[in-house]
Amino acid sequence: MATNGSLNRKLRMALVGGGLGAFIGRVHVTAAVLDNRASLVAGAFSSSPEKSKASAPDYDVPLTRAYGSVDEMLAKERALPADQRIDFVTVATPNHTHFPIAKAALEAGFNVVCDKPLTFDLAQAEQLHELVKKSGAVFAVTHNYTGYPLVRQARQMIQSGELGEIQAVRAFYIQGWLRSRLESEGQKQAAWRTDPAKSGSAGCFGDIATHAYNLARYMTGLLPDRVSANLKVFEPGRALDDYGHAVIRFQGGALGTVTASQISHGRENDLFIEIDGTKGALSWRQEEPNVMVVRRNGHPHALYTRDPNAPHMNDLGRAACRLPSGHPEAFFEAFANIYRCAYDDMARRAAGESFSQFDTVYPNVADGVDGMNFIQQCVASSAQDGAWLSLAHPAQRR
Ligand code: NAI
Repeated sequence: MATNGSLNRKLRMALVGGGLGAFIGRVHVTAAVLDNRASLVAGAFSSSPEKSKASAPDYDVPLTRAYGSVDEMLAKERALPADQRIDFVTVATPNHTHFPIAKAALEAGFNVVCDKPLTFDLAQAEQLHELVKKSGAVFAVTHNYTGYPLVRQARQMIQSGELGEIQAVRAFYIQGWLRSRLESEGQKQAAWRTDPAKSGSAGCFGDIATHAYNLARYMTGLLPDRVSANLKVFEPGRALDDYGHAVIRFQGGALGTVTASQISHGRENDLFIEIDGTKGALSWRQEEPNVMVVRRNGHPHALYTRDPNAPHMNDLGRAACRLPSGHPEAFFEAFANIYRCAYDDMARRAAGESFSQFDTVYPNVADGVDGMNFIQQCVASSAQDGAWLSLAHPAQRR
Protein backbone atom coordinates (compact mmCIF):
# COMPACT_ATOMS: atom_id res chain seq x y z
CA MET A 1 0.00 0.00 0.00
CA ALA A 2 1.19 3.51 -0.75
CA THR A 3 1.96 4.97 2.63
CA ASN A 4 1.50 8.73 2.27
CA GLY A 5 4.95 9.33 3.71
CA SER A 6 5.33 9.42 7.44
CA LEU A 7 1.56 9.30 7.84
CA ASN A 8 1.79 5.60 6.99
CA ARG A 9 -1.89 5.05 6.21
CA LYS A 10 -4.43 5.82 3.52
CA LEU A 11 -6.27 9.13 3.60
CA ARG A 12 -10.03 9.02 4.19
CA MET A 13 -12.25 10.82 1.69
CA ALA A 14 -15.83 12.11 1.80
CA LEU A 15 -17.62 13.02 -1.40
CA VAL A 16 -20.30 15.69 -1.71
CA GLY A 17 -22.29 15.26 -4.93
CA GLY A 18 -21.78 12.42 -7.36
CA GLY A 19 -25.20 10.89 -6.66
CA LEU A 20 -27.09 8.69 -9.09
CA GLY A 21 -27.10 10.32 -12.54
CA ALA A 22 -24.44 12.91 -11.66
CA PHE A 23 -21.29 13.41 -13.70
CA ILE A 24 -18.06 14.56 -12.11
CA GLY A 25 -18.32 13.05 -8.61
CA ARG A 26 -17.65 9.58 -10.00
CA VAL A 27 -14.59 10.90 -11.85
CA HIS A 28 -13.29 12.39 -8.60
CA VAL A 29 -13.58 9.10 -6.78
CA THR A 30 -11.93 7.09 -9.56
CA ALA A 31 -9.06 9.57 -9.68
CA ALA A 32 -8.79 9.88 -5.92
CA VAL A 33 -8.15 6.16 -5.40
CA LEU A 34 -6.04 5.54 -8.51
CA ASP A 35 -2.78 5.56 -6.58
CA ASN A 36 -4.11 3.55 -3.65
CA ARG A 37 -3.42 6.41 -1.27
CA ALA A 38 -7.02 7.14 -0.25
CA SER A 39 -10.37 5.41 0.27
CA LEU A 40 -13.85 6.84 -0.05
CA VAL A 41 -15.44 6.22 3.35
CA ALA A 42 -18.31 8.71 3.55
CA GLY A 43 -20.48 11.02 1.51
CA ALA A 44 -23.44 13.32 1.12
CA PHE A 45 -23.97 12.24 -2.45
CA SER A 46 -27.08 14.16 -3.35
CA SER A 47 -29.23 17.13 -2.44
CA SER A 48 -31.93 14.54 -1.80
CA PRO A 49 -31.29 12.51 1.41
CA GLU A 50 -32.99 9.44 -0.10
CA LYS A 51 -30.85 9.63 -3.23
CA SER A 52 -27.75 10.06 -1.11
CA LYS A 53 -28.46 6.76 0.68
CA ALA A 54 -29.44 5.09 -2.60
CA SER A 55 -26.11 6.13 -4.14
CA ALA A 56 -23.98 4.64 -1.35
CA PRO A 57 -23.80 1.01 -2.63
CA ASP A 58 -22.35 2.26 -5.92
CA TYR A 59 -19.43 3.60 -3.95
CA ASP A 60 -19.20 0.76 -1.42
CA VAL A 61 -19.90 3.26 1.35
CA PRO A 62 -21.86 1.84 4.31
CA LEU A 63 -25.33 3.34 4.78
CA THR A 64 -24.28 4.63 8.20
CA ARG A 65 -21.83 6.96 6.49
CA ALA A 66 -24.05 7.97 3.54
CA TYR A 67 -25.45 11.15 5.03
CA GLY A 68 -28.62 13.07 4.27
CA SER A 69 -26.86 16.44 4.23
CA VAL A 70 -23.44 18.02 4.40
CA ASP A 71 -24.14 19.44 7.86
CA GLU A 72 -25.03 16.01 9.18
CA MET A 73 -21.93 14.53 7.57
CA LEU A 74 -19.55 17.09 9.06
CA ALA A 75 -21.08 16.87 12.54
CA LYS A 76 -21.05 13.06 12.63
CA GLU A 77 -17.59 12.73 11.11
CA ARG A 78 -16.14 15.23 13.58
CA ALA A 79 -17.56 13.14 16.41
CA LEU A 80 -15.79 9.98 15.23
CA PRO A 81 -12.45 8.90 16.74
CA ALA A 82 -9.46 10.42 14.94
CA ASP A 83 -8.46 7.08 13.46
CA GLN A 84 -11.80 6.75 11.67
CA ARG A 85 -12.92 10.22 10.70
CA ILE A 86 -12.40 11.66 7.23
CA ASP A 87 -9.31 13.66 6.25
CA PHE A 88 -10.81 15.57 3.35
CA VAL A 89 -14.02 16.54 1.64
CA THR A 90 -14.41 16.64 -2.14
CA VAL A 91 -16.98 19.13 -3.39
CA ALA A 92 -18.53 18.00 -6.70
CA THR A 93 -21.84 19.85 -6.63
CA PRO A 94 -23.27 22.71 -8.72
CA ASN A 95 -21.44 26.04 -8.43
CA HIS A 96 -23.80 27.87 -6.05
CA THR A 97 -23.23 25.25 -3.34
CA HIS A 98 -19.41 25.19 -3.40
CA PHE A 99 -18.90 28.06 -0.95
CA PRO A 100 -21.14 26.97 1.93
CA ILE A 101 -19.91 23.37 1.66
CA ALA A 102 -16.21 24.22 1.42
CA LYS A 103 -16.50 26.79 4.21
CA ALA A 104 -18.22 24.33 6.54
CA ALA A 105 -15.65 21.62 5.74
CA LEU A 106 -12.74 23.97 6.49
CA GLU A 107 -14.37 25.15 9.72
CA ALA A 108 -14.79 21.52 10.74
CA GLY A 109 -11.04 21.09 10.30
CA PHE A 110 -10.98 19.08 7.09
CA ASN A 111 -8.94 19.54 3.91
CA VAL A 112 -10.92 20.31 0.77
CA VAL A 113 -10.78 19.40 -2.90
CA CYS A 114 -13.26 21.63 -4.70
CA ASP A 115 -14.37 21.63 -8.28
CA LYS A 116 -14.37 24.74 -10.46
CA PRO A 117 -15.48 27.46 -10.74
CA LEU A 118 -14.46 27.93 -7.13
CA THR A 119 -17.62 29.70 -5.99
CA PHE A 120 -20.74 31.51 -7.13
CA ASP A 121 -19.04 34.92 -7.12
CA LEU A 122 -15.71 36.61 -6.46
CA ALA A 123 -16.62 37.86 -2.97
CA GLN A 124 -17.20 34.26 -1.82
CA ALA A 125 -13.91 33.17 -3.37
CA GLU A 126 -12.00 35.89 -1.55
CA GLN A 127 -13.63 34.87 1.70
CA LEU A 128 -12.65 31.26 1.11
CA HIS A 129 -9.07 32.33 0.43
CA GLU A 130 -8.94 33.97 3.86
CA LEU A 131 -10.53 30.95 5.50
CA VAL A 132 -8.00 28.61 3.95
CA LYS A 133 -5.15 30.74 5.32
CA LYS A 134 -6.72 30.75 8.77
CA SER A 135 -7.45 27.03 8.77
CA GLY A 136 -4.00 25.85 7.70
CA ALA A 137 -5.77 23.23 5.57
CA VAL A 138 -4.90 21.85 2.16
CA PHE A 139 -7.23 23.24 -0.51
CA ALA A 140 -7.03 21.96 -4.10
CA VAL A 141 -9.18 23.12 -7.01
CA THR A 142 -9.78 20.67 -9.83
CA HIS A 143 -8.69 22.70 -12.78
CA ASN A 144 -7.79 19.18 -13.79
CA TYR A 145 -6.14 19.99 -17.12
CA THR A 146 -3.09 21.16 -15.17
CA GLY A 147 -2.58 17.51 -14.22
CA TYR A 148 -1.63 16.36 -17.73
CA PRO A 149 2.05 15.41 -17.95
CA LEU A 150 2.69 17.47 -21.09
CA VAL A 151 0.99 20.53 -19.57
CA ARG A 152 3.35 20.28 -16.63
CA GLN A 153 6.22 19.65 -19.04
CA ALA A 154 5.33 22.90 -20.83
CA ARG A 155 5.12 24.79 -17.55
CA GLN A 156 8.66 23.78 -16.61
CA MET A 157 10.00 24.38 -20.15
CA ILE A 158 8.64 27.93 -20.00
CA GLN A 159 9.84 28.51 -16.43
CA SER A 160 13.34 27.45 -17.40
CA GLY A 161 13.39 29.80 -20.41
CA GLU A 162 13.39 27.18 -23.19
CA LEU A 163 10.85 29.18 -25.21
CA GLY A 164 12.45 32.54 -24.39
CA GLU A 165 10.18 35.44 -23.48
CA ILE A 166 6.51 34.50 -23.80
CA GLN A 167 4.78 37.05 -26.01
CA ALA A 168 1.46 35.51 -27.05
CA VAL A 169 -0.98 32.84 -25.92
CA ARG A 170 -4.12 31.63 -27.69
CA ALA A 171 -6.45 29.30 -25.84
CA PHE A 172 -9.90 28.02 -26.65
CA TYR A 173 -12.37 25.54 -25.25
CA ILE A 174 -15.02 24.56 -27.81
CA GLN A 175 -18.04 22.32 -27.14
CA GLY A 176 -21.30 21.75 -29.01
CA TRP A 177 -23.59 20.05 -26.49
CA LEU A 178 -25.67 23.17 -25.72
CA ARG A 179 -26.48 23.87 -29.39
CA SER A 180 -30.10 23.12 -28.51
CA ARG A 181 -31.88 24.12 -25.33
CA LEU A 182 -31.23 20.89 -23.45
CA GLU A 183 -32.11 22.76 -20.28
CA SER A 184 -35.76 22.84 -21.30
CA GLU A 185 -35.76 19.07 -21.85
CA GLY A 186 -34.91 18.25 -18.23
CA GLN A 187 -31.20 17.48 -18.80
CA LYS A 188 -29.93 18.24 -15.33
CA GLN A 189 -26.32 19.18 -16.14
CA ALA A 190 -27.67 21.69 -18.68
CA ALA A 191 -30.41 22.93 -16.33
CA TRP A 192 -28.22 24.23 -13.52
CA ARG A 193 -25.41 25.41 -15.82
CA THR A 194 -27.79 27.78 -17.65
CA ASP A 195 -29.55 29.02 -14.49
CA PRO A 196 -28.03 32.27 -13.15
CA ALA A 197 -29.14 31.38 -9.61
CA LYS A 198 -27.01 28.21 -9.68
CA SER A 199 -24.26 28.75 -12.22
CA GLY A 200 -23.26 32.31 -11.30
CA SER A 201 -22.97 35.38 -13.51
CA ALA A 202 -21.60 33.43 -16.49
CA GLY A 203 -22.62 30.28 -18.33
CA CYS A 204 -20.13 29.01 -20.85
CA PHE A 205 -17.48 31.43 -19.60
CA GLY A 206 -17.74 30.19 -16.02
CA ASP A 207 -18.00 26.56 -17.05
CA ILE A 208 -15.20 26.20 -19.58
CA ALA A 209 -13.51 29.51 -20.52
CA THR A 210 -12.23 29.53 -16.96
CA HIS A 211 -10.41 26.22 -17.67
CA ALA A 212 -8.76 27.71 -20.78
CA TYR A 213 -7.75 30.84 -18.88
CA ASN A 214 -6.38 28.76 -16.01
CA LEU A 215 -4.39 26.61 -18.44
CA ALA A 216 -2.85 29.70 -20.04
CA ARG A 217 -1.90 31.07 -16.63
CA TYR A 218 -0.56 27.71 -15.42
CA MET A 219 1.55 26.97 -18.49
CA THR A 220 2.97 30.46 -19.06
CA GLY A 221 3.13 31.86 -15.53
CA LEU A 222 2.16 35.22 -17.06
CA LEU A 223 0.34 37.60 -14.71
CA PRO A 224 -2.71 39.32 -16.24
CA ASP A 225 -3.13 43.06 -16.46
CA ARG A 226 -6.35 43.94 -18.35
CA VAL A 227 -9.19 42.20 -20.17
CA SER A 228 -11.79 43.07 -22.81
CA ALA A 229 -14.55 40.52 -23.35
CA ASN A 230 -17.65 39.86 -25.43
CA LEU A 231 -20.03 37.20 -24.20
CA LYS A 232 -23.08 36.23 -26.17
CA VAL A 233 -26.26 34.14 -25.85
CA PHE A 234 -26.85 32.57 -29.24
CA GLU A 235 -29.54 30.06 -28.30
CA PRO A 236 -32.82 32.04 -28.04
CA GLY A 237 -34.34 32.07 -24.57
CA ARG A 238 -31.17 31.02 -22.73
CA ALA A 239 -30.33 33.14 -19.69
CA LEU A 240 -26.51 32.90 -19.71
CA ASP A 241 -23.78 33.16 -22.34
CA ASP A 242 -23.14 30.14 -24.52
CA TYR A 243 -20.29 31.72 -26.51
CA GLY A 244 -17.66 34.37 -25.89
CA HIS A 245 -14.13 35.61 -26.28
CA ALA A 246 -11.77 37.58 -24.12
CA VAL A 247 -8.67 39.51 -25.14
CA ILE A 248 -6.06 39.74 -22.41
CA ARG A 249 -3.08 42.05 -21.92
CA PHE A 250 -0.56 40.50 -19.60
CA GLN A 251 1.82 42.38 -17.34
CA GLY A 252 5.10 42.80 -19.21
CA GLY A 253 3.41 43.18 -22.59
CA ALA A 254 2.34 39.69 -23.69
CA LEU A 255 -1.06 39.31 -25.39
CA GLY A 256 -3.62 36.54 -25.01
CA THR A 257 -7.01 35.38 -26.23
CA VAL A 258 -9.52 32.98 -24.70
CA THR A 259 -12.49 31.77 -26.75
CA ALA A 260 -15.20 29.46 -25.43
CA SER A 261 -18.23 27.94 -27.09
CA GLN A 262 -20.92 25.45 -26.14
CA ILE A 263 -22.85 25.84 -29.40
CA SER A 264 -20.39 24.60 -32.07
CA HIS A 265 -21.86 21.61 -33.91
CA GLY A 266 -19.92 18.43 -33.41
CA ARG A 267 -17.28 19.82 -31.08
CA GLU A 268 -16.74 17.79 -27.94
CA ASN A 269 -14.13 18.95 -25.42
CA ASP A 270 -11.70 20.77 -27.65
CA LEU A 271 -9.46 22.56 -25.21
CA PHE A 272 -6.48 23.88 -27.16
CA ILE A 273 -3.59 26.17 -26.32
CA GLU A 274 -0.75 27.64 -28.35
CA ILE A 275 2.05 29.70 -26.89
CA ASP A 276 4.59 31.86 -28.72
CA GLY A 277 7.96 32.67 -27.19
CA THR A 278 10.98 34.45 -28.66
CA LYS A 279 12.93 31.16 -28.88
CA GLY A 280 10.16 28.70 -29.67
CA ALA A 281 6.44 27.93 -29.69
CA LEU A 282 4.33 25.04 -28.48
CA SER A 283 0.78 23.78 -28.77
CA TRP A 284 -1.26 21.18 -26.91
CA ARG A 285 -4.79 19.80 -27.30
CA GLN A 286 -6.59 17.92 -24.55
CA GLU A 287 -8.38 15.60 -26.99
CA GLU A 288 -4.91 14.28 -27.95
CA PRO A 289 -3.14 14.85 -24.66
CA ASN A 290 -0.19 12.51 -25.13
CA VAL A 291 1.54 14.70 -27.72
CA MET A 292 2.69 18.30 -27.74
CA VAL A 293 4.06 20.13 -30.77
CA VAL A 294 7.17 22.25 -30.25
CA ARG A 295 8.29 24.52 -33.08
CA ARG A 296 11.42 26.54 -33.77
CA ASN A 297 12.02 28.40 -37.02
CA GLY A 298 14.58 26.58 -39.16
CA HIS A 299 14.02 23.26 -37.39
CA PRO A 300 11.61 20.43 -38.12
CA HIS A 301 8.49 20.51 -35.97
CA ALA A 302 9.08 18.35 -32.90
CA LEU A 303 6.40 16.04 -31.50
CA TYR A 304 7.01 15.60 -27.78
CA THR A 305 5.29 12.40 -26.78
CA ARG A 306 4.36 11.66 -23.18
CA ASP A 307 7.30 9.37 -22.62
CA PRO A 308 8.69 9.21 -19.10
CA ASN A 309 11.94 7.74 -20.44
CA ALA A 310 12.56 10.23 -23.23
CA PRO A 311 15.37 12.77 -22.90
CA HIS A 312 13.00 15.61 -23.83
CA MET A 313 10.93 15.11 -20.67
CA ASN A 314 11.71 17.35 -17.70
CA ASP A 315 11.19 16.56 -14.00
CA LEU A 316 7.69 18.03 -13.70
CA GLY A 317 6.46 16.25 -16.83
CA ARG A 318 8.07 12.93 -15.93
CA ALA A 319 6.74 12.96 -12.37
CA ALA A 320 3.19 13.20 -13.74
CA CYS A 321 3.49 10.05 -15.90
CA ARG A 322 2.25 6.65 -14.77
CA LEU A 323 2.59 4.45 -17.85
CA PRO A 324 5.27 3.88 -20.47
CA SER A 325 4.80 5.90 -23.66
CA GLY A 326 2.22 4.72 -26.16
CA HIS A 327 -0.21 3.53 -23.51
CA PRO A 328 -2.55 6.51 -23.52
CA GLU A 329 -3.04 8.41 -20.30
CA ALA A 330 -5.89 10.87 -20.21
CA PHE A 331 -8.65 12.46 -18.16
CA PHE A 332 -8.62 10.15 -15.13
CA GLU A 333 -4.85 10.14 -14.78
CA ALA A 334 -4.63 13.93 -15.08
CA PHE A 335 -7.36 14.27 -12.48
CA ALA A 336 -5.48 11.83 -10.28
CA ASN A 337 -2.34 13.96 -10.53
CA ILE A 338 -4.18 16.79 -8.80
CA TYR A 339 -5.08 14.39 -6.00
CA ARG A 340 -1.63 12.83 -5.83
CA CYS A 341 0.11 16.15 -5.23
CA ALA A 342 -2.58 17.33 -2.81
CA TYR A 343 -2.13 14.07 -0.86
CA ASP A 344 1.54 14.86 -0.35
CA ASP A 345 0.46 18.04 1.41
CA MET A 346 -2.43 16.41 3.31
CA ALA A 347 -0.02 13.79 4.62
CA ARG A 348 2.42 16.51 5.68
CA ARG A 349 -0.36 18.39 7.44
CA ALA A 350 -1.57 15.26 9.24
CA ALA A 351 1.99 14.45 10.33
CA GLY A 352 2.50 18.01 11.59
CA GLU A 353 5.08 18.78 8.91
CA SER A 354 5.25 22.10 7.08
CA PHE A 355 3.91 22.64 3.57
CA SER A 356 2.89 25.58 1.41
CA GLN A 357 -0.80 26.27 0.87
CA PHE A 358 -0.22 28.59 -2.04
CA ASP A 359 2.98 27.53 -3.82
CA THR A 360 1.67 24.22 -5.10
CA VAL A 361 1.97 22.16 -8.29
CA TYR A 362 -1.80 21.65 -8.19
CA PRO A 363 -4.26 24.54 -8.49
CA ASN A 364 -5.13 25.89 -5.05
CA VAL A 365 -7.61 28.34 -3.61
CA ALA A 366 -5.63 31.30 -5.00
CA ASP A 367 -6.05 29.92 -8.53
CA GLY A 368 -9.74 29.51 -7.78
CA VAL A 369 -9.91 33.21 -6.84
CA ASP A 370 -8.04 34.05 -10.06
CA GLY A 371 -10.66 32.12 -12.04
CA MET A 372 -13.56 33.88 -10.32
CA ASN A 373 -11.90 37.26 -10.91
CA PHE A 374 -11.59 36.35 -14.61
CA ILE A 375 -15.28 35.43 -14.81
CA GLN A 376 -16.42 38.56 -12.98
CA GLN A 377 -14.32 40.93 -15.07
CA CYS A 378 -15.27 39.28 -18.37
CA VAL A 379 -18.97 39.57 -17.55
CA ALA A 380 -18.50 43.21 -16.50
CA SER A 381 -16.45 44.05 -19.59
CA SER A 382 -18.99 42.45 -21.88
CA ALA A 383 -21.81 44.40 -20.23
CA GLN A 384 -19.84 47.58 -21.02
CA ASP A 385 -19.43 46.73 -24.71
CA GLY A 386 -15.98 45.17 -24.27
CA ALA A 387 -14.50 47.90 -22.05
CA TRP A 388 -10.94 47.24 -20.89
CA LEU A 389 -11.04 46.33 -17.19
CA SER A 390 -8.36 45.37 -14.72
CA LEU A 391 -7.64 41.64 -14.48
CA ALA A 392 -4.98 41.87 -11.77
CA HIS A 393 -5.82 40.45 -8.35
CA PRO A 394 -3.66 40.30 -5.20
CA ALA A 395 -4.21 36.54 -4.84
CA GLN A 396 -2.72 35.69 -8.25
CA ARG A 397 0.48 33.67 -8.44
CA ARG A 398 2.67 32.75 -11.38
P1 NAI B 1 -24.31 17.15 -11.74
O1 NAI B 1 -25.57 17.93 -11.82
O2 NAI B 1 -24.11 16.00 -12.66
O3 NAI B 1 -24.10 16.57 -10.26
C1 NAI B 1 -24.26 17.36 -9.11
C2 NAI B 1 -24.48 16.48 -7.91
O4 NAI B 1 -24.43 17.28 -6.74
C3 NAI B 1 -25.83 15.77 -7.89
O5 NAI B 1 -25.66 14.45 -7.43
C4 NAI B 1 -26.65 16.59 -6.88
O6 NAI B 1 -27.68 15.87 -6.25
C5 NAI B 1 -25.54 16.92 -5.91
N1 NAI B 1 -25.85 18.03 -5.00
C6 NAI B 1 -26.34 19.24 -5.28
N2 NAI B 1 -26.45 19.97 -4.15
C7 NAI B 1 -26.00 19.20 -3.14
C8 NAI B 1 -25.87 19.38 -1.75
N3 NAI B 1 -26.21 20.52 -1.16
N4 NAI B 1 -25.40 18.34 -1.01
C9 NAI B 1 -25.06 17.17 -1.58
N5 NAI B 1 -25.14 16.95 -2.90
C10 NAI B 1 -25.62 17.95 -3.68
O7 NAI B 1 -23.13 18.22 -11.92
P2 NAI B 1 -21.67 17.96 -12.48
O8 NAI B 1 -21.66 18.09 -13.95
O9 NAI B 1 -21.11 16.72 -11.88
O10 NAI B 1 -20.90 19.26 -11.92
C11 NAI B 1 -20.61 19.42 -10.55
C12 NAI B 1 -19.48 20.45 -10.38
O11 NAI B 1 -18.32 19.99 -11.02
C13 NAI B 1 -19.78 21.81 -10.99
O12 NAI B 1 -19.27 22.83 -10.19
C14 NAI B 1 -19.05 21.78 -12.32
O13 NAI B 1 -18.64 23.07 -12.76
C15 NAI B 1 -17.86 20.93 -11.99
N6 NAI B 1 -17.35 20.15 -13.13
C16 NAI B 1 -16.01 20.11 -13.33
C17 NAI B 1 -15.45 19.38 -14.35
C18 NAI B 1 -13.98 19.34 -14.52
O14 NAI B 1 -13.52 18.86 -15.55
N7 NAI B 1 -13.21 19.78 -13.57
C19 NAI B 1 -16.31 18.65 -15.30
C20 NAI B 1 -17.72 18.69 -14.96
C21 NAI B 1 -18.20 19.42 -13.91
